[in-house]
Amino acid sequence: MTAAAGAIRTQVAIVGAGPAGLLLARLLDDAGIESVVIENRGRDYVEKRIRAGLLEQGTVELLERAGVAGRLHEEGIVHHGIHLQFDGERHRVALSDLAGGRTITIYGQTEIVKDLIGRRLDDGLPLLFEVDEVALEGIETATPRVRFLHAGARREIECDVIAGCDGFHGVCRPAIAKHLQFFSRDYPLGWLGILAAVAPSSDELVYAHHERGFALLTLRSPELSRLYIQCAPDERIEEWPDARIWEELQARVALDGWSLAEGPVLEKGITGMRSFVSEPMQHGRLFLAGDAAHIVPPTGAKGLNLAVADVALLAAALVEWFGSADDTGLRHYSAACLARVWRAEHFSYWMTSMLHTFGDPFEQRLQLAQLRYVVSSEAAARTLAENYVGLAGSRLGGADIDGAARRVGPISVPR
Ligand code: FAD
Ligand code: PHB
Repeated sequence: MTAAAGAIRTQVAIVGAGPAGLLLARLLDDAGIESVVIENRGRDYVEKRIRAGLLEQGTVELLERAGVAGRLHEEGIVHHGIHLQFDGERHRVALSDLAGGRTITIYGQTEIVKDLIGRRLDDGLPLLFEVDEVALEGIETATPRVRFLHAGARREIECDVIAGCDGFHGVCRPAIAKHLQFFSRDYPLGWLGILAAVAPSSDELVYAHHERGFALLTLRSPELSRLYIQCAPDERIEEWPDARIWEELQARVALDGWSLAEGPVLEKGITGMRSFVSEPMQHGRLFLAGDAAHIVPPTGAKGLNLAVADVALLAAALVEWFGSADDTGLRHYSAACLARVWRAEHFSYWMTSMLHTFGDPFEQRLQLAQLRYVVSSEAAARTLAENYVGLAGSRLGGADIDGAARRVGPISVPR
């Protein structure tokens, strides 16, 4: 980073210090590409924001390659299966057996973010928190700029490329909205999530279908449980005292001969659910990655994994472009991401539709028929398993990537 007349000059300006922005910065630094990361929240807020917890094996492997998996290997918990519960019975889906030995790992998104921030600051690389009034300029030129306010001063980054990693509510996607097409679906569903100081009652995740509504038992560590219940998207957390949450959880996951242990609730919040995709994920010199470009309902545990997959592709394409002026990767970035994104969108939609209560008895009978099929047919269980652990390469379908490329690209990068 060099400063001239109040401006910061870098190769890639990264807006947003969530997992996508921070990991992109790390991957670029490994390849000798300079970046500046700006984030509108404070470090403490970003490091404490509780969200995802389930990593596909491909995500773990990428974090290893990025040199930030030390603590992940010490504290992450590897799982080989999940449970589906319905009609008062719990059925194990042997993910690893069904999906070529692949595993999933439980490690909080908060921890990934802490590891990446720690590494960035240890490396002495620029990461600015609490920026304000972020505005993008010159996106269609070869010299895009990001203006913002930081510590009371107006600043500007001059760069070659902007990476929009600022999540669903950020400013990057709106800046190019008129060049994009959006696809979305809202669900009449919310998830109330709690973090509780109690050892998980189940070794593996439990996805429970129940007439009172869906429930999910997951975890963060041997001492910390993470639990979710379906609620309405517009409910206020004040309407949910801890006792009511536990009562609801107990009713939805009850099983003969097993009990759910309760403990102090450390954190609670309600999230709405939506599916959303932007096509393409680029305009001019602005490339969107992660939640800035797409959202999935959390039932399939795909959001963070998609964000990581996007930045892996974007980093590789930028390395090629800065290294040898080959823009093939950048031109195909959007199409390549979208093939995976749409697969994950379908899987997340499918899991959401199969497991939540919509108050329609016909729909409920269909869900039970589907759940019974998943736990009794190896082919159906395999479909769930291979999507859940994460699809790679040919399973995303060459044709699918070609199809996506026909719809949205390849796209030119301004010279
Ligand atoms: P974000 O994490 O949203 O990061 C964007 C960053 O940009 C933020 O730090 C934000 O403050 C910053 N920003 C916003 N606007 C600006 C601006 N104008 N200027 C500068 N910075 C800005 N995914 C999974 O894979 N597995 C799971 O198990 C899972 N569970 C989930 C459970 C819940 C309850 C929720 C809500 C989500 C879950 N997800 C899960 C989804 C996952 O958390 C997201 O997909 C992931 O955070 C996306 O990362 P990101 O970096 O793209 O976006
Ligand atoms: C989580 O651990 O927070 C989690 C796990 C699986 C999901 C969603 C969230 O589907």
